[in-house]
Amino acid sequence: MPSLQHTFLKRRQSLASKLRSPALIFAGHAPPRNFPANTYPFRASSHFLYLVGMSIEGAAILVHPDGSSTLFVPTPSPDDELWHGPSPSLETISSLLGIEAQPFEGLKGSFRKEAIASLPVHDEKTRLIQQELIGRIVSASSLSPIDEALADAIISLRLHHDEAAIAEVRHAASITKQAHLEAMRSTRVGRGAWEIRATLLALFAHNHCTPAYEPIVTPKGEILHARDSNHILEEGDLLLIDAGAESPTGWASDVTRTIPVSGRFSSTQRAVYELVLEAQKGAISALRPGVRFRDVHLLASRILAEGLLELGILRNGGPETLIEEGALALFFPHGLGHLLGLDVHDMEDLGDRAGYAPGRFRSTHPSLRYLRLDRDLEAGMVVTIEPGFYHSKGWLAHPQNAPLVHRFVNVDILNRFSDVRGIRIEDDLLITQDGAECLTDSIPKEVEDIEKVIGGTC
Ligand code: GLY
Ligand code: MN
Ligand code: MN
Repeated sequence: MPSLQHTFLKRRQSLASKLRSPALIFAGHAPPRNFPANTYPFRASSHFLYLVGMSIEGAAILVHPDGSSTLFVPTPSPDDELWHGPSPSLETISSLLGIEAQPFEGLKGSFRKEAIASLPVHDEKTRLIQQELIGRIVSASSLSPIDEALADAIISLRLHHDEAAIAEVRHAASITKQAHLEAMRSTRVGRGAWEIRATLLALFAHNHCTPAYEPIVTPKGEILHARDSNHILEEGDLLLIDAGAESPTGWASDVTRTIPVSGRFSSTQRAVYELVLEAQKGAISALRPGVRFRDVHLLASRILAEGLLELGILRNGGPETLIEEGALALFFPHGLGHLLGLDVHDMEDLGDRAGYAPGRFRSTHPSLRYLRLDRDLEAGMVVTIEPGFYHSKGWLAHPQNAPLVHRFVNVDILNRFSDVRGIRIEDDLLITQDGAECLTDSIPKEVEDIEKVIGGTC
């Protein structure tokens, strides 16, 4: 494996070779929770991390088309030393990272504002600094032509993971695997969902990882992004756990498992679980370079529609009609997956620019409107595959959905599946030259394997 310094140098040079204008990329600042001195933990912006490899609060990197780069680092005040301890000197940073480091103040006036490209920043303090330095605030919806060129250049790099990135994603996946296994073992009737969440978070922390996103740990799996875990687990519940570690250098994983808290799926839970698993495996086996991700989404949708017809939950049409008319989206409303990298939805700070190939745009169709990825797959991409089934009574009862439910759903049969609230199965896949490698496959997902692990010691 090349040295890390070499990896980051190569990334910066690859970016430089695609640039016509210098690019200024900010690390950002920790946003305040409630008052300025009480902040969320600092985590540098992913574009900065990609090029520099170290979270340096307040720093910015200037990359020139000729291949040279300079890192601008805030000069600590005497009180910083008192409150936050010593900061590494510019010389230390420079020799550690193999990049020229200068005081941040040197940045002002060192370029022509109109000629500089930049990317969206995520906190107010950095936004003001960006505005002062380059004369505008950059956001995904208002990229100037030179910002667009920079965004496209960085997307073209970050879409395909290099060896160092893949090693980091594998590491995040391996910690995620341990955390999910530990969570499954600690699941039993009578425990709080928050305790299972704590098990995951503790395992991340023990391994110097953080959560790549707020974990979802809930028996109310029909709520797509349920935010709270304030439930005692009851006999008959399915527990949906969507949690992934972020490696110490910022790389993400994103895994969902749905498990019966009693240790056994009921027959109805098992029937729907096996259908979602079939859709997931069908989608995974279709992954290879050249395949359009939207087609894989539609393949998984077809498998789900066929299965729901067989179960009798959907009716009055073949799978294509059920998808076309929006009936499948009553139960599988979201996209099959997304890019994964330094962000859990990689580069979504650039809107759909990263997830959608040039000339492709998000559809408003019920089965496609939440699809985050519509590119032809290429080796080196990492994507998630996460089909699901959601039985959301509020969503089905909404007046907007009533006509579809009336026409396509057999409510009597659906009611027999009342112990199936939400099921999602999600893995992380590295696209290879001739297929895909599942980075999170060893986390149990077959019915028998899950039933062996719940509440147990294996
Ligand atoms: N954990 C968020 C997602 O699966 O996309
Ligand atoms: Mn995901
Ligand atoms: Mn997820």
